[in-house]
Amino acid sequence: MKKTLFLIMFLSLNAQATPFANGDAKRGENLFKKYECSSCHEARVGGDGSAIFTRADRTVRSADNLIVQMERCSGAIGKQLTAQEKQDLAAWLNQRYYHFK
Ligand code: HEC
Repeated sequence: MKKTLFLIMFLSLNAQATPFANGDAKRGENLFKKYECSSCHEARVGGDGSAIFTRADRTVRSADNLIVQMERCSGAIGKQLTAQEKQDLAAWLNQRYYHFK
């Protein structure tokens, strides 16, 4: 019984701590393709562009940073992401590369 309680507490704490909980990673992945997010990143770091998220001197250090950087990037192509799109994109990038808790 104690163990079960502990597990429930642990799981609910964990759920609350997840950033971008309102984001949908699958939708984010599709948005990433739709907006051709990799185009500039490829030109900059080569390959499929994903090294921009994994390089040692990457600039994004927190969940908040991630949102700000995405706003900068989308601004550069004259695109205004909706609040939901930002959550979705961030959920995907976080799941795949950043792992912020
Ligand atoms: C106009 C070109 C361009 C486009 C389009 C673009 N980016 Fe970027 N992005 C950049 C550049 C340049 C950097 C590197 C900035 C730096 O080194 O400080 C970057 C860096 C990033 C980073 C930070 C990587 C790190 O260092 O941790 C994220 C996250 C990111 N982009 C997300 C996106 C998303 C999401 C999209 C699509 C909505 C997108 N970008 C589209 C140019 C672009």
